[in-house]
Order: sequence, then structure tokens, then C-alpha cells
Amino acid sequence: MDNRLRPRLEIFPDPESMSRAAALFISERLRQAVDIRGRASLALSGGSTPRRIYQFLVSLSAPVLPWEQIHLFWGDERWVPADDPESNYALARETILNTATLPPENIHPVPTNAATIEEGAARYEEEVRTFFASSGGSGDSPTFDLIHLGVGEDGHTASLFPDDPALLETDRWVVPVTSPSWRPPRERVTFTLPLINNARTVLFTASGNAKRKVVKSIVLDQGDGEMSYPAAMVNAIEDLVWYVDEESIG
Ligand code: 6PG
Repeated sequence: MDNRLRPRLEIFPDPESMSRAAALFISERLRQAVDIRGRASLALSGGSTPRRIYQFLVSLSAPVLPWEQIHLFWGDERWVPADDPESNYALARETILNTATLPPENIHPVPTNAATIEEGAARYEEEVRTFFASSGGSGDSPTFDLIHLGVGEDGHTASLFPDDPALLETDRWVVPVTSPSWRPPRERVTFTLPLINNARTVLFTASGNAKRKVVKSIVLDQGDGEMSYPAAMVNAIEDLVWYVDEESIG
């Protein structure tokens, strides 16, 4: 039986209102997680859409989020230095880390300084495993409280691109991939579907008419996105949510 959740769609007039609402949604889920489990685990997205969301995440949160109980991971990372403008870590540093005060041990970047990308992916998987084993849970069932994802015009999400063998991964949680030439930087590390789909909540955010075909196919037409769009293969345990602007849903 297909245990896929039906995506819950929220449509906002424009990217600014979508970003504000997404930040409030993320804040609320982080607070819930800390209240229930004493800590929260959030995997951040890369790309350009999250910038405004993460600015709101630190500016709108009132009272201030309990950052000392919040752990940040990255659902994917480009294989570039942490100070490279293309780095997803750099995006988070400019929006969240330069404003919110998190203990260094709560910040879990992909080790892009590893000798090889394979080593980097393996070390990151071990970091995820260790983190979830430390909560008294099993390191074999890593359940992020919230994974934030974007979607590309080709339906990719994180760094899971159409037709990539990484989409068929069933054992590893973090793998190295090479993105299509049209989407540099090409060397990346990404969460795999087994890890993503084990999250309590997955929040997709998308804006702009360039995403319209993909968003409508995945969220409105359901099955059509099944085979070709990686983002259509994403599931969650409790909540699968899409926050979009009107431009991206038509
Ligand atoms: C990345 C992201 C990627 C992104 C989409 C959408 O590292 O590039 O994780 O999956 O979310 O490409 O990017 P935009 O937000 O820039 O449209």
C-alpha cells in the first residue's frame, strides 16, 4: 500500500508573504520539538528561495527561538569551501548564524574540507547517525523534526536530480552526486530519500512561474510527478507541506 502522505498546499500572494509564513511554520515546529523532546533538528535547504525565509526565521521569532536546543544540518551542500558564495552553509551563515547564537556543537555543516567528497559524505552520514543515536534513540532511525527543501525547474530537490542513481539508494543516508551541467556547482553531497522521507515534517517552498509546471504536477496532479521528478518521491512521517506563491501554482 502506498503510504505516501498527500501534500498539504498553502498558497501565498507573493514570495515575501510565502517566506514570512514559512519562517513562522518552521519556528512553530522547532518550538514544538523542543517542548516535546528537549531539542529540535532542522535540515536547511540551499538555493536562493530560503534566503528571505531564514532572515525571517531570526527576525520574526518572538520570543527568540531556543537556539541552544536547536541543531542545524544541511540537506545538501555544494562541494565548495564554506566561505564560497555558492556554499549552502554560507547562505545560513549570512542569514541565521550571523544573528542567532547557537552553540558550535549545534551547527553540523557538511565537512567540505574532507580529502575527498566520498569521505565527506561518509563523515556526514556518521555525524547524522551519531546525533540521532545520542538522543537515546536509534542511530538507525534518524528522524529530523523538519527538513526544508526547495524544488528546481527540473523537479530536483536537495541535490537529488532526475534519473540520478542516488534516487535508488536504499541504505545510505548521505551520498556524493554530480549535478547536471546546467546546475553548477556540480560536485555535491546530499541526503538520500530514505533519510528525507523519515523526517517528521518536510516543508517545500517554491516561488515564481518558472516552477509552475513542476509544482502543479507534483502537488495538484499527484501521480504525474511520480516518475520524473525527485521532489515527487519525497514523503514524510507526519506532515508533507508545500508553501508556494501564486506565481508558482498558476
Ligand atoms: C541547492 C538546493 C536545491 C534548491 C533548488 C531550488 O543546493 O541548490 O538544495 O535543491 O533548493 O535548486 O533553488 P532556488 O531556491 O534557487 O530556486
